[in-house]
Amino acid sequence: MPRSEKPTAATTDAHPAGRALRLGADLYAIQTQPGLEGIALEEAAARIPGARPLTDRVMPERSGLGIFTARCSPALLKLRCAEDLFAVMAYRRAIDGDLEAVRAAVRDTWHLEWALQARTRLMPGSRSGRRLRFRVVARMAGEHEFRRVDFKRAVDKGVIERADHAWHLDEERADLEIWATLIGDEFIAMLRLSDDRMRHREYKIADRPGSLRPAVAAALAWLSGPRDDDVVLDPACGIGTILIERAELGRYKLLLGGDHDSEALAAARLNVGPRYKPIELRVWDAVAMPLADRSVSAIVTNLPWGMKFGSHRDNRRLYPRLIEEFKRVLAPGGRMVMLTGERALMRELIADRAIAPERVLKVSILGAFAEIFVCRGQA
Ligand SMILES: C[S@@+](CC[C@H](N)C(=O)[O-])C[C@H]1O[C@@H](n2cnc3c(N)ncnc32)[C@H](O)[C@@H]1O
Repeated sequence: MPRSEKPTAATTDAHPAGRALRLGADLYAIQTQPGLEGIALEEAAARIPGARPLTDRVMPERSGLGIFTARCSPALLKLRCAEDLFAVMAYRRAIDGDLEAVRAAVRDTWHLEWALQARTRLMPGSRSGRRLRFRVVARMAGEHEFRRVDFKRAVDKGVIERADHAWHLDEERADLEIWATLIGDEFIAMLRLSDDRMRHREYKIADRPGSLRPAVAAALAWLSGPRDDDVVLDPACGIGTILIERAELGRYKLLLGGDHDSEALAAARLNVGPRYKPIELRVWDAVAMPLADRSVSAIVTNLPWGMKFGSHRDNRRLYPRLIEEFKRVLAPGGRMVMLTGERALMRELIADRAIAPERVLKVSILGAFAEIFVCRGQA
């Protein structure tokens, strides 16, 4: 039986590097790209009955974790801004460089049983019982005197030594995945409740280089503050990910997308299929779109970063023209959300008063630094 802890309600304490966790049943974590964990928590609070955001953590350039309490409900797996869902099962605020503390935290936690129950409820048909195969995904950020493989081994041993199950380490055919995260001196172990379907959405039949991760596309759409009567435009829609994710977030009046690359648009048509109506997809140059002045209520887009598409030099000419065109078609009070890696260029456009964002989020998308600019159309 676990030894040292007593079950408690999930609450938080003040902590200099983020709020410390107090383990309890119903403590979940959603994972996304770094910088988007706050948006993922906003979505959870709005869409999961009784969900209460607690805190977040960032593994620089790798992932962001939003931590919250909620009742166990299938809605958890329907969150669009998350790439993975976990049950938090073990925690140690300061391991003081001691892997023995990691091993003990996993061996002695009371919360694994709850995490297993959540997994069985959310993943019906998943293998359960006392004899399960597991694998550990170990991640470390910060300075440590031990190697990642030693950290992973400490977690492996902690699981194997538990008295309540007969666990078998099996990297290839695991029934359970335990994700062990060490950020500085803080250790969090989580049981994975999602599979790859949460990350790679089923609509994505056709893909192309540079297409956006669906959870990032959903976060952009979320930032536009979706409304039932929205006319939503993605002027450089590529394979259509942003428009599809916007449609999945809630009602709208019309989706509009275009791209100057007809192959990208053919891929978008495949991904959209017969769903997401009404939608209009057209080949166009986004600097001169066949749309009336003030005719869209939300523009949500991933601009060309000058890497896979165009060049930084081209973008210096392209961006001011794009922004002028976006402002022309955006209705008064409409929302404009733009993601780009062209941070210096965007700073210049802000200095020139071409845009006046009300919110700027620093993010890292698959390791590349970028920013999201949220603007409002002039009244
Ligand atoms: C960063 S990608 C966007 C990818 C998209 N969000 C997705 O998930 O597939 C930029 C897109 O802008 C398009 N593009 C670049 N310049 C354009 C222009 N002047 N007019 C229309 N589309 C343009 C590219 O063809 C590319 O599909």
